[in-house]
Formats: sequence, structure tokens, C-alpha cells
Amino acid sequence: MAEFPSGSAPRLRAAVVGTGGISSEHLRFLAASARAELVGVCDMSRVSVEHAASTYGTTPFRSLDTMLVEAQPEVVHVLTPPSTHIALSETALESGAHVICEKPITLNSPDLEALLATADRSGRRLIENHNYRFNPEIEHLDGMVAAGVVGDIGEIEVRMGLPVNDPAGRFGDPNLPSPIHRLPAGVIHDFITHLTYLVDHFATEVDWEVVDSRWSCHGGVAHVPVDDLDSMLIGTGPDGAVHARIRFSALLAPDCFEITVRGSKGYGQVELFSGRVSEVIPRPGGKQLSPIVNMLVGGVSLFLGGPRSFKRKIMQQGPYVGLERFLDLTYAALASGSEPPVTTADMLRTSRLVDRLVAGRSRSDDDRAPAEAAR
Ligand SMILES: NC(=O)c1ccc[n+]([C@@H]2O[C@H](COP(=O)([O-])OP(=O)(O)OC[C@H]3O[C@@H](n4cnc5c(N)ncnc54)[C@H](O)[C@@H]3O)[C@@H](O)[C@H]2O)c1
Repeated sequence: MAEFPSGSAPRLRAAVVGTGGISSEHLRFLAASARAELVGVCDMSRVSVEHAASTYGTTPFRSLDTMLVEAQPEVVHVLTPPSTHIALSETALESGAHVICEKPITLNSPDLEALLATADRSGRRLIENHNYRFNPEIEHLDGMVAAGVVGDIGEIEVRMGLPVNDPAGRFGDPNLPSPIHRLPAGVIHDFITHLTYLVDHFATEVDWEVVDSRWSCHGGVAHVPVDDLDSMLIGTGPDGAVHARIRFSALLAPDCFEITVRGSKGYGQVELFSGRVSEVIPRPGGKQLSPIVNMLVGGVSLFLGGPRSFKRKIMQQGPYVGLERFLDLTYAALASGSEPPVTTADMLRTSRLVDRLVAGRSRSDDDRAPAEAAR
């Protein structure tokens, strides 16, 4: 991709709609980047939008239409809840702005195709945020794959554990049930894009012949109808058979977001919440010595992981560290007119795979969820 070095590219006028939880990650980038000029923030909540405007030194708006007319943004970040993404993105695209939209950009692939058609008609780009793909740990796995130390990829496993049932959390609070539970795959629909694009990233050419997903409710929380996903994928890629597993659990601790890529020679495993990276690969010394070298290298890496993770904490580099790189590359592409780092093809493959995973809900254990939840 052609990339302007930061500073030499024209600054694009940028605005944000939705100043809730995730917006601070986008706004921090926009306020500091040499590629963007923050020209407005919009939210239905007066308190929220005024707070964001005063924190990041920009103009608050309560209506997207007004912001589009008065602030004339060239890029709009849509950071509102999933069910609002289509209408807001359409409005922004039709005004002539590019759109960077939070995941899940739409709740199914036909809706995504329709929204992409609107972007095409408007001559603008529509880009879904696939931030974790740009985390250094995923780039580390990319490096291992590119260096050939994994060999031909045969298995990809993505596992997320988050206590979405916790009554003290935003999704588990029984006093204020989140509308997110009404999405087709409940609260997991809010996370499934991440899990799916990470599998797809290591399997772009795989044709998935089997996509079997089991959705369950193990937590017994009445207003959380689904809190567990176990899925198995089997496909064929250029180098042969590929298996993948996507897991989400609300009950297992500690919180985790683990990605393992296994191949014909070795494997790499990373954990995005802690930044842990481990490699089990061929080493000098051949088959006899490789296991010992792998253990030694793994031990040193784990030992150094403690201080590294502590440094990340004090530098406030949380798991969203990849978002800044995603936005930087995206703005460089928008300024130069080149293909953004998350392509239309990436978004469509991800969305179609999510469709197939979600389709499993109707024929799975989810049918027994209400009975379990009522116990
Ligand atoms: N990429 C990531 O890692 C990541 C992390 C968290 C959330 N998200 C995604 O970001 C999106 C927003 O999540 P959040 O946690 O920030 O939600 P939130 O509920 O904290 O904030 C959403 C904000 O949008 C505003 N809003 C809703 N409808 C609006 C409208 N029509 N016009 C203007 N403002 C409107 C609300 O008032 C609220 O302030 C979701 O799609 C979510 O899945 C992504």
C-alpha cells in the first residue's frame, strides 16, 4: 500500500458520531495525529458530547446532519451501538464523507453489501474497524508465518473469555438490561467480528466447507440469553486442510484473548490482553535440540513478559494498541487514494463467515437457553 509518511500527507477533516466508551480511543488518535484535523463530535447525549468536545478541543453537535453541514468532515467515525450503524453511515457517505465504522458494521452480510453499494455510489470508502489485527502480537504471528517457521497453516484457534454476565458490568447489570442482548447472537454478536476476522486473517484463501457452531447459555442470567460460543470450522486452502476453532466463554477466568496459529513446522500463540507471545518452532540443533531451545527461549520470554506487561500498563497501552496503527494506515490510504488496510474483501469474508456462525444459533443448544436461564 502506498503510504504517506506522517506529516507529508494532507490533513483530513475528521468527525466522530457517538462519544461513548470506545470513542476516547479514536479521539486520542484524531487529536494527536498529523494526518487528521478533528472538526466535530456528535452524540444524542448532551453531557457526553460536551465532555468529549471540551476534552479534545472541538465543536459539539447533537445531530449528525447539522455536523455534516457545519463542520464539513471528509471522514466520519461511526462509534454508536451496532443497530444504528447503517443509517448513520449512509447519511455520512451520502454527504460525501468516507466512513470508518466500529464493528460489527452491520448485523449480516446482505446489509453490508447494500451499505458498500451506497459507498460506491457516493465514491467514498467504507471501512470497518478490525483493530486487533494491528496489535503487535498479531504482527508477530504474521512475521512468524512470513518467515516460514510455522510452515503451512493447518489450524487457527481464537479464544476469548470475558465475564459478560457480571452484574457489576455493563452487559450483566440486571437493573439496566443492555439492548445488545437483542442482537441475533446476543452479546457475543458484539465481539464475534473480532474473533472472525482474526481467523480469516490467517486463512484468507480458505474455503470453509464446515462451519458448525454451538451457542449456549451456561451462566443462568435471565436477561443474558446466550453467553457461550463453541464453533468448529473445516476448510481447504492452497496448502491443504485447515481447521479453526472460535470460542467465547463468559465463565472462564481470567479474561483472555488468545490466538494460536499451528502449522506443519511449529506454532505461535499470543494473548492480546497481556501481550504474551510464545513460539514453538524449529531451532538450530534440529529435532533433538529444538524442544530444549524452545523451552529455554519460552522461559526467558515469559520472564521478560512480566516487566513488559507492567510497562504497557504504566504507558496505558491497553489491548486497543492496534487501533492507532489501524487508523494511521487508514488515514494514509484515504489521503493517497490507495486501498485501506482493511479491504472490502476482508470485510465481506468476515461478515459472511459471521452469518454462517450465527446461522447455527437456530439449530443449537440455544433452544434450551431460556430454561437454563430461568433456573
Ligand atoms: N473495536 C473495539 O475494540 C471496540 C470496543 C468497544 C466497543 N466497540 C464498538 O463500538 C461501538 C460503540 O460501543 P461503545 O462501547 O462506545 O458504546 P456506548 O454505548 O458506550 O456509546 C455509544 C454512544 O453512541 C451514542 N448514540 C447512540 N445512537 C446515536 C445516534 N443515533 N446519534 C448520535 N449518537 C448516538 C450514545 O448516546 C452513546 O454515547 C459498538 O459498535 C461496539 O461494538 C468496539
